[in-house]
Amino acid sequence: MKAFDISGRLAVITGGATGIGRAIAEVLAEGGARIVIADRDLPRAEATARDLAGEAIHLDVTDPTACEAQAQVLTSRHGPADILVNNAGIVHNAPALDMGLDDWRRVIDVDLNGVFHTARAFGRPMVAAGRGSVINISSICGEIVVHPQPQVAYNAAKAGVNLLTKSLAVEWAGRVRVNAVAPGYTATELTLAGRSRPDWFDRWLQSIPMGRLADPREIATAVAFLASDAASYITGTVLTVDGGYTAF
Ligand SMILES: NC(=O)c1ccc[n+]([C@@H]2O[C@H](COP(=O)([O-])OP(=O)(O)OC[C@H]3O[C@@H](n4cnc5c(N)ncnc54)[C@H](O)[C@@H]3O)[C@@H](O)[C@H]2O)c1
Repeated sequence: MKAFDISGRLAVITGGATGIGRAIAEVLAEGGARIVIADRDLPRAEATARDLAGEAIHLDVTDPTACEAQAQVLTSRHGPADILVNNAGIVHNAPALDMGLDDWRRVIDVDLNGVFHTARAFGRPMVAAGRGSVINISSICGEIVVHPQPQVAYNAAKAGVNLLTKSLAVEWAGRVRVNAVAPGYTATELTLAGRSRPDWFDRWLQSIPMGRLADPREIATAVAFLASDAASYITGTVLTVDGGYTAF
């Protein structure tokens, strides 16, 4: 169907070197989009970009100056992005009373501030052009507290991403659509530690009605939908993709 067609569109994916970001890049490339992988791990980003006949740029989303500079370079070379996926993220597991402030700041800086920096830097030319779709990768942890692992900073950051998404959607309405995708547990490096701990992993599986983790591509297809004109009246929403976790 033509409304789902994203061929020729320029897609920037932060944290696209691996995991969910890589799957998003793959699915968008299969739809004919031109791919730019923006990651702090440049060698890995270059390897992914090579596989997808795309381009890689070094980007640490916690550095607002670098975000602005890379956005300017990219825009002067290709014009504004059509699709911006703010996906880069990290997790830290520690109880609130014990965690170091450095760990708190590090998680908030990547998972919340990083989304703001890249949304502003790459979003500015999109807003000026009056078109495009921004998709922030949130988490079910932005809505509920998962268990049993403690991760207060991650949960707080993702809740922030949900309201950041809605705020930008309202500010940019009629020009750029801004939505979030909230994945449940997904099989990537981020969940590797938890998947190797039976005391955590058994609880995870018991909490998912579908009884399994998501494949990263199952998150990516939701992103592709929001990126396309099939979602032309959808802005300011958080699309949950969690095998039923939050319905339980
Ligand atoms: N895996 C899950 O179960 C799950 C569930 C819900 C939400 N998410 C979210 O999905 C997104 C991707 O997670 P993933 O599981 O693919 O993680 P991952 O660890 O597999 O990959 C993360 C990618 O982000 C990059 N990255 C990290 N910090 C960065 C920074 N400061 N600047 C630029 N790039 C940076 C890494 O180099 C890596 O390529 C994250 O926002 C995460 O919070 C993941």
